This record gives sequence, structure tokens and C-alpha cells, in this order.
Amino acid sequence: MKVRILGSAAGGGLPQWNCACATCLAARAAGVNRDQDCLAVSGDGVSWYLVNASPDLRQQLIAAPELAPGPGRRDTPLRGVLLCTAELDHTIGLLSLREASSLSVYASAQAIEALSTAFPVRGVMAPYTTVDWRPVTAGKPVELAGGLVAEAFVVGDKRPRYAAATADRGGEWVLAYRIRDAARPDTGGLLYAPCLREMNDVFAAAAAEADCVILDGTFLYDDEMTRSAGAGPSATAMGHVPIEQSLTTLVRRPGVRYVYTHLNNTNPIAIEGSEEFQTVSTEGVRVARDGQVLEL
Ligand code: MLT
Ligand code: MN
Ligand code: ZN
Repeated sequence: MKVRILGSAAGGGLPQWNCACATCLAARAAGVNRDQDCLAVSGDGVSWYLVNASPDLRQQLIAAPELAPGPGRRDTPLRGVLLCTAELDHTIGLLSLREASSLSVYASAQAIEALSTAFPVRGVMAPYTTVDWRPVTAGKPVELAGGLVAEAFVVGDKRPRYAAATADRGGEWVLAYRIRDAARPDTGGLLYAPCLREMNDVFAAAAAEADCVILDGTFLYDDEMTRSAGAGPSATAMGHVPIEQSLTTLVRRPGVRYVYTHLNNTNPIAIEGSEEFQTVSTEGVRVARDGQVLEL
């Protein structure tokens, strides 16, 4: 199973266009760029799936050699997209896939509802391409082309701000996916959980079986918005467990890779080599890098 991290930043990316916080200033000075959260995964190197569709998707696809089109003029290895949430940073990129001849989009019924109403991507895309919208349910793994199996876990109930008035059909707003090689049931595969409100039992159970865990590294501190901007909600209130909590409670198993992603532009670990980056690294958790390839 092949994995390529296409983007490792939270909504807004790094640097964020209108932000002059310490991390954004450091990123600008050093020429550091992190695109918004997006992952590409393949079981056979032929059929590829995205997890999340970031607003930076066009550049991300072009920068990934595995996702180049061909041999036919409109052949693409991209088969579909799995959505962790219906948040704008995970879904705006769907609109950039409208040139596809067809596409499967997997998401919770709740997210599909939001993308059919409050943010009506479904209706907008319909005249451009054939999208097969497939609701995923926790505990019911779905088979993907190329020999992968994806299982969803409900890890949060935080709804996008634009969907505040959307009818709540069970609260399955935030999913993590464990993606495995169907032909190798002895392997644990990848757990991808870029949005995680707390280190709960559902996450712990899913992580206990994975060979690689990529998890929410949005904020280092619970009061990071206050630290960097003088005011703002806590990380937890924004649906993200801060690293200062997850680093102490994350169970590390030998031989398993742990990686933080979905880094907010205020997060000092987003700058490689910073003191905070070093601290996290010495604790045995890596920091995702755009373009990074993982073989599982
Ligand atoms: C989040 O992950 O909390 C959201 O994507 C925030 C946002 O960018 O709107
Ligand atoms: Mn986000
Ligand atoms: Zn910033």
C-alpha cells in the first residue's frame, strides 16, 4: 500500500494569506509552504483514492507523479475521494474534480446531506460529471479498487460553521478511516484521523491495530489562538485535541509510525527545526511533510 501526503496544513494553509502570526511570518521568511489537508492512497499503484479534497487540489495533483493522467487522453488513476468531514478545507477541492468523467465520493450520510444542501456541491457538480455519492457507516468496511478496504470510525460531532442549521441525522460529522490491504489481512494498515476532538476509546481501538497512525496535529496548545492572536476559542472547542494532550496519551507501539498532520498556521511545529518541532520528534511522533511518501 502506497500513501502520499499531498497536504499537511489545516484550513487556510501555511502561511495563511491574511495572517502575520509568528509561525506565518517564520514560514514566509523561510519560504515554507504547507498545502491544506489531503492524502492519496493506493493498494496497487494503479488505482488511487484521495482522502479529503483540499482547496489546493489542482497543484497537489500536478505535484504527485503517481496521479498523472494517461495512457489514454482522459485516463486518470484517480478513482474517488473519501471525506473525513464536510468542512470547506476538505471539500472545496471536489469542485476542481469536475472535469473527471466519473468519480466516487465516500462520506458520512451527514456530510453528504450538508454537501447537498448548505454547501450544495452535489447539485453544482451534477451537470459537469457523474459523481457516485456513497454514504459510509462505521463498522461497515467498503472495498476500493486496487485491493484496498476502508473502514470509517466516528471520532467527532463538530459540524462545519456553514452547516449550523443543517438537520442533524445522527451527528456523524467527523470520520477517521483505517485503510488496509485486503490481500494482507495480517497487516494493520493506515489510520488517518486529521480531525479528532479527544483521545477517546474509538480512536484508541482503531489506532491499536494500525501500522501507521496519522493524526490531528492542528494545535500544539489548547489556548493557541489566544497565544498567537490575543483571543480566540480553545483547540478543543474547535474540535481538535491539542498536541500537548495527545502526545501524553497516545499509546505508541513498537514498529508503528505516528505522524501529526492538519497543522494550523499558528502551530510552531509546522516549522521544521523549531524547538517545538524537535520536542515532538524526540517524543517519537513525526510531523507530516507535503509530498511525503509512505509504504505500508
Ligand atoms: C477545522 O478543521 O476545524 C475546520 O476546517 C476549520 C476551517 O478551516 O473552517
Ligand atoms: Mn480542517
Ligand atoms: Zn498565522
